[in-house]
Amino acid sequence: MPITPTQKIWMNGEFVDWADAQVHVLSHTLHYGNGVFEGIRCYEAANGPAVFRLTPHIERLFRSGKILYLNIPWTAPQLVEAVKETIRVNDIRECYVRPLVWLGYGEIGVNPLQSPVEVMVAVWPWGAYLGDEGTQKGVRLMISSWQRHDPNAMPPAAKGVGMYVNSQMAKIQAVKAGYDEALLLSPQGYVSECTGENIFVVRNGTIITPPVTAGALEGITQDSVRRIATDLGVEFRFDNLLRSDLYTADEMFLSGTAAEIVPVRSVDDREIGDPGPITRRIQETYAAAVRGQIDRYAEWCEYV
Ligand SMILES: Cc1ncc(COP(=O)(O)O)c(C=O)c1O
Repeated sequence: MPITPTQKIWMNGEFVDWADAQVHVLSHTLHYGNGVFEGIRCYEAANGPAVFRLTPHIERLFRSGKILYLNIPWTAPQLVEAVKETIRVNDIRECYVRPLVWLGYGEIGVNPLQSPVEVMVAVWPWGAYLGDEGTQKGVRLMISSWQRHDPNAMPPAAKGVGMYVNSQMAKIQAVKAGYDEALLLSPQGYVSECTGENIFVVRNGTIITPPVTAGALEGITQDSVRRIATDLGVEFRFDNLLRSDLYTADEMFLSGTAAEIVPVRSVDDREIGDPGPITRRIQETYAAAVRGQIDRYAEWCEYV
């Protein structure tokens, strides 16, 4: 998906022109893949642009950094403000927000501890990650032959730069085979998640999603789905799922900041069908919540 440039990028505390936001080719992260990032969205809400659950996203960035031993040289409130400032400076009302923490130029060799920890925040307009048709009619999933990485090899709880090589292998396999998205199983054979989204199965009116112990990221959209489902009176639980649970689901959907709420049409060519009523209700309520249209979720909208 091509990026639409905006004016300025926040880089280590200063705004630089989009075209000048460069790093050295010997930056540590380029070679060894240690870094952490977030994916956040800002929506045109009831009282102006609002970043959806910005503080929890920045808190997760710090948790990811702690897991990977990256000492972020800013506080969470400073980065919350940096995100808001970047949106204001670029005079943009709806956008995707990408904070990235990486190891810069200084030392080379596997040991990362002497490399400078650098931070940037970029924003740009970004449409439906899995396509408008996917959002409306649902996407076709393939279970990848690549597994989600074992937590003792690469901790899935950290949103780490290098972790996404695993996601990329699965994504390439799925798109080359003609599917929209890949789903990964854990090393124990349970359903984990997709390459950038959590997965939910609806069975007999209950929503079930895999726990973190199956290698799923603790999604902020997933948590929003949990709250919305509970408020709608729909039973919700975390539980291990087998691939056969996917094939026989009544409804299925994905959640993620970039993708938002996306119905699933089929898994490995087993038809689930058109988006079901629970999926639709969650999707519509989420779309209204992110735009500040539901008072109950007003605190999720962090106004710029
Ligand atoms: C692997 C993976 N799982 C799940 C998610 C969904 O997380 P969130 O809802 O916080 O965006 C993402 C997106 O960040 C992801 O990359």
